[in-house]
Amino acid sequence: MVQGLSKSFLLIPLFTVCFLSLACLGVGPNRSDQPITDPDEARALNSFFNQWDIEAKSGQWNLSGEPCSGAAIDSTNFENSAYNPFIKCDCSYTNGLLCHITHLKVYALNVVGPIPEELWTLTYLKNLNLAGNFLTGPLSPSIGSLARIQYLRVGTNALSGQLPKEMGQLTNLLSLSLGPNNFSGPLPAELGNLLLLERLYIDSSGVRGEIPPTYAQMQNLNTLWASDIKLTGMIPEFIGNWQKLKILLFV
Ligand SMILES: *[C@@H]1O[C@H](CO)[C@@H](O)[C@H](O)[C@H]1NC(C)=O
Ligand SMILES: *[C@@H]1O[C@H](CO)[C@@H](O)[C@H](O)[C@H]1NC(C)=O
Ligand SMILES: *[C@@H]1O[C@H](CO)[C@@H](O)[C@H](O)[C@H]1NC(C)=O
Repeated sequence: MVQGLSKSFLLIPLFTVCFLSLACLGVGPNRSDQPITDPDEARALNSFFNQWDIEAKSGQWNLSGEPCSGAAIDSTNFENSAYNPFIKCDCSYTNGLLCHITHLKVYALNVVGPIPEELWTLTYLKNLNLAGNFLTGPLSPSIGSLARIQYLRVGTNALSGQLPKEMGQLTNLLSLSLGPNNFSGPLPAELGNLLLLERLYIDSSGVRGEIPPTYAQMQNLNTLWASDIKLTGMIPEFIGNWQKLKILLFV
């Protein structure tokens, strides 16, 4: 009786070992399958591409309905102009089984209308280029959720309204391009939190007012295009703090 009992207890770990080794041999989940795009990101991408009436060019990426495939995950350069619209993905998540969208380009594709709110759920984006379209409406405060963004281009559109102060949360930004556009109101003081920012393009963006004193902290700034905007006051004295400044376009 006692012996029988201990035998059946032994069977539990044995069964577990067998089950695990079968899984490792490829029975069950197929480990050699292609990684999949985060389902929420794939849904969001398809939704706003639909609203914008654009889709991946056939044979480039989104092969068989999987956005993170083909050129989106091979060595094709994101800036390659033959690939537009385009995404790049990082598939190193969950042991190489899950991809997040890190780059998104919808450049000069005659897209008309507002930026759908879903776009701001792609929180793994490091590079976003929506320049050269006919985008209208404001930039949503939800832009603040793109915590990993380094390169952000929304210039040459017809975006309006005030710049959301939440842009000050995008502390990984290296390059921010906002003009030309039809924004209004002041430059948010919070942009002064972007301590890594190297290039700021606000020319013809529609913003007006003063360059806020907080911008004195942006010591990595090497390029500022600020021509054709209604800035009041003089070029601030703190511009002397921007030790790395090489290119300055004003007036
Ligand atoms: C796993 O996927 C590969 C490639 O798609 C296929 O050749 C193989 O038969 C699959 N194995 C199982 C156990 O489903
Ligand atoms: C990807 O392909 C699927 C299926 O062909 C399609 O429904 C979807 O709209 C495509 N998405 C993009 C972003 O091109
Ligand atoms: C820019 O915005 C103003 C109002 O803020 C509007 O009257 C004007 O038509 C807009 N221009 C463009 C090109 O969208």
